[in-house]
Amino acid sequence: MSKEIVVSGIRSTGFLHLGNYFGAMKNYVKMQDEYNCYFFVADYHSLTTHPDPKDLKANVYRVVAENIASGLDPEKIALYAQSDIPEIPELYLMLNMLAYKGELEKVPTFKDKVRTQPDNVNAGLLTYPVLMSADILIHKAVKVPVGKDQEQHIEMARNFAHRFNSRYGEQLFPEPQPFNFGSELIKVPSLDGTGKMSKSEHGNSTLYLADDDDAIRKKVMKAKTDAGPTEHNSEMPEYIQNIFLLMQLVSKPETVATYTGMYNNCTIRYGDMKKQLAEDMVAFISPIREKTLSLQQDEAQLGKILKEGAAKARESASKTISEARKLIGINYY
Ligand code: TRP
Repeated sequence: MSKEIVVSGIRSTGFLHLGNYFGAMKNYVKMQDEYNCYFFVADYHSLTTHPDPKDLKANVYRVVAENIASGLDPEKIALYAQSDIPEIPELYLMLNMLAYKGELEKVPTFKDKVRTQPDNVNAGLLTYPVLMSADILIHKAVKVPVGKDQEQHIEMARNFAHRFNSRYGEQLFPEPQPFNFGSELIKVPSLDGTGKMSKSEHGNSTLYLADDDDAIRKKVMKAKTDAGPTEHNSEMPEYIQNIFLLMQLVSKPETVATYTGMYNNCTIRYGDMKKQLAEDMVAFISPIREKTLSLQQDEAQLGKILKEGAAKARESASKTISEARKLIGINYY
């Protein structure tokens, strides 16, 4: 049996943090053996905010390097830049004819942008879900690993797939479903005591895979604690639970057990615990950071990876696009 097709887009802006690593990245890495994966850097999508042309290549190369350092294997999957696949904007154009202004204006992510960047409400922003649908449908993907905030976009991809199929009387596109590993998804708490680790304005509560050792140590040591428990086996406040959760991600089980024991008999010293966590965090993050840096320095290698990824992706994309053209009636000779 042939493997199911999975597509996902990776934003080309921002740095990967520990939350991305244990959330999206771990899923991607698991999927690459079981599925036929097309993972791409969503550089066209980033144009909605008019990035400086000088930055684009470095952004794309950095994202590719970070993702490979985190475990993506370009031999197993198609790893490519969206802008290397001209069939994507072609399908985007086709789908735009089936997408209605009214439904696009109602999309929550669009309404957010209208609020936060009122002076740049461009058509690319309005049709962002259409481009995302083209990304997915171009490979006839059935599964799309995304976070909750993207599920509405996948629903739109299903609608456009369905609309195309019924207009042209053939089941060209399967209807893609959002996909994650559900309960296996690991919560990565923020260092400021509440909530999940996420891209934050004040970078102190988020550990980035690009952080140097001292930055990691400083951030971990700043995590909120208190004077420690006074009663045996008392319940942990959320900010202490969070430090234990982080420890579970990167430290040895024995280490976690030791500190849990010390918490329960009230002998814990949070300063020591954070020092231990900081060192285990450094041991976890630094090899990923160093691998990213050395890949980033090898532009020839990254260029080759992107080229090979694009060739794999275009093989599938060009098939789909010629079927779509034919169904629409664009086959004149
Ligand atoms: N919109 C996604 C995000 O912001 C990135 C993305 C672009 C994507 N195209 C996609 C994700 C196609 C899945 C499938 O994270």
